[in-house]
Amino acid sequence: MQCKYNSDSQSSQLYSRSKEALFFSCTNKSVEFAISLPRITTIPFPYFLFLFLFLVRSIIIIHSVISNTTLAMASAASPSEITSIKAFAESNGSSPIPSTYHSLTEPRDDVADHLACSIPVIDFSHLTSHDPQIHASTVHQLANACAQWGFFLLTNHGISEKLMEEVMEKSHEFHNLPLEEKEEFADKGPLTAIRHGTSFHPQAEKLHYWRDYLKVITLPQFNFPHKPPGYKEIAFEYSRKIRGVARELLKGISESLGLDAESIIESTGFDSGLQIFAVNLYPPCPEPDLAVGLPPHSDHGLLTLLTQNGIGGLQVKHTGKWVNVNPLPNCLIVNTGDQLEAVSNGRYKSVMHRAVLNNRDTRISLVLVNGPDLDKEIGPALGLLEKEDPLFKTMKYRDYFEIQQMTRFAYKSGLDEIRLN
Ligand code: OGA
Ligand code: NI
Repeated sequence: MQCKYNSDSQSSQLYSRSKEALFFSCTNKSVEFAISLPRITTIPFPYFLFLFLFLVRSIIIIHSVISNTTLAMASAASPSEITSIKAFAESNGSSPIPSTYHSLTEPRDDVADHLACSIPVIDFSHLTSHDPQIHASTVHQLANACAQWGFFLLTNHGISEKLMEEVMEKSHEFHNLPLEEKEEFADKGPLTAIRHGTSFHPQAEKLHYWRDYLKVITLPQFNFPHKPPGYKEIAFEYSRKIRGVARELLKGISESLGLDAESIIESTGFDSGLQIFAVNLYPPCPEPDLAVGLPPHSDHGLLTLLTQNGIGGLQVKHTGKWVNVNPLPNCLIVNTGDQLEAVSNGRYKSVMHRAVLNNRDTRISLVLVNGPDLDKEIGPALGLLEKEDPLFKTMKYRDYFEIQQMTRFAYKSGLDEIRLN
């Protein structure tokens, strides 16, 4: 194209005459550009609409990526400001992780795999059987599982596969909500009804953990996020079914200690007790040999019932070695907590467990901690103290829970606070 406007005066003339020639300058190229601009107005309407929509969509995507990343990380220099490891992992890709996430202390693959199949399996339908012999032999199995492992797989628990799938699907949807949508649930302390956050105990830790969580108090009163639609209803059903299973297990455990079936339920005020419904999300981690999802810890309640989305990662410490917990299809993973160790006067230990990571799959676990009434004094069952000395002093569950949440660093059990001698 022949350049007709190649002097400064001509260019300014063009600029004042035509808005489209905004970027006009006195080079041949830009003159051509300026001259060709008016043709844009002749673009057929469908193309124009397409271009316009494309532009709007791109702006929305860019805005959402930028705001998610800034929300996830208030400052790139300070990993403690990461408010969602999921959002961070998505923006970080396969780049090295911040050094404060180098929190794996014992290699994740140093596991005693031959022990994995020794994790006890309890058939729940046998525990609730009306046949006294079947029931008694299951109570006996329960005693061994709690005394030797503190972990067992529970089959035939009666919670439908459909319900378990639905609650898992909604849990995934919750974590997939944009960060802005979850901001209203930001963690404001251990006894707040609904809290969304990241890591283990973000306020109290120097090292961080590759996990996002939603934690909800679902008993004695039911709370739950109002989104995504339908989650609350499904979660209510799941929470109550789990509570029923935990209650039956506690009856069996009571019997296994030589107490009346209702003894632990009554002494702990279980029927007005606490339930915390935790939804953990562990994004794939590019350096799974450096980071850990959850450090070794024990749970504070009586019984924890866990299910996961088919991706492994839970390990239990058994006779000094880490063992992978490989669930059977549709089972629940059960472990005993600190309060049961106290009630059983040390017979049923609250065992250390942790969550390790992988670099391919997102793992989700639903962890329902079932505890006593917050206002009950909890200590060794009186029936046991007829024949033995107490190993723990009594403490209100509320106080125990608060101490444990405020001072609970990895590796340290809250039980140290109430242990006698
Ligand atoms: C917990 C826990 C393990 C897991 O939330 O207390 O131990 O596999 N979770 O998510
Ligand atoms: Ni736990």
